[in-house]
Amino acid sequence: MTLKSLIRTIPHYPKEGVQFRDVTTLMKNPEGFRRAIDLLGERYRDQGIRIVAGIESRGFIVGAALAHHLGAGFVPIRKKGKLPAPVIHEDYELEYGLDRIEVHVDAIGKGERVLLVDDLIATGGTAEAALKLIGTLGGVVVETAFLVDLPDLGGRRRLEALGHKVFTLTEFE
Ligand code: PRP
Ligand code: HPA
Repeated sequence: MTLKSLIRTIPHYPKEGVQFRDVTTLMKNPEGFRRAIDLLGERYRDQGIRIVAGIESRGFIVGAALAHHLGAGFVPIRKKGKLPAPVIHEDYELEYGLDRIEVHVDAIGKGERVLLVDDLIATGGTAEAALKLIGTLGGVVVETAFLVDLPDLGGRRRLEALGHKVFTLTEFE
């Protein structure tokens, strides 16, 4: 059983021509979910990570489990209008138009070591916006980690070109 084999592909979702990589089938598999979190946990053990930041919504699932594994705190990076206290925001491009993510202004302290996680990287636009937010707060991003990379969409290259480290457990063409 490979992690990749546990990820289901839904053809033509959310629209014609897109092959949607659905990580819910990995997450519901007890051995698969544990293995995914353990692999990330091993990689980031003893790296002084204080905060795992997860991107709404599937990044919360991976990030919270990993934070618990590492004995780190968890910080949610949320879509606009969801966080109750003062926030900073970043806008990023979707296929049609802009979207916005936010983080609490007091979520990360200057110099705190942060791991950014999400379920999947496609164009990298969401992760780039999240990295800007963490950087604005003074967090030090140790690495960015994803269950799935879609390399054809260029997200990894985009983050690496900005000087960030990227780690992914699986790739789908
Ligand atoms: C998906 C995925 C990433 C993002 C990747 O989230 O979970 O967060 O898209 O795309 P990108 O690399 O091109 O920015 P989505 O926006 O579908 O939100 P959801 O998790 O709330 O469904
Ligand atoms: N799966 C999940 N989220 C995504 C995908 C996908 O294939 N592409 C862009 N965001």
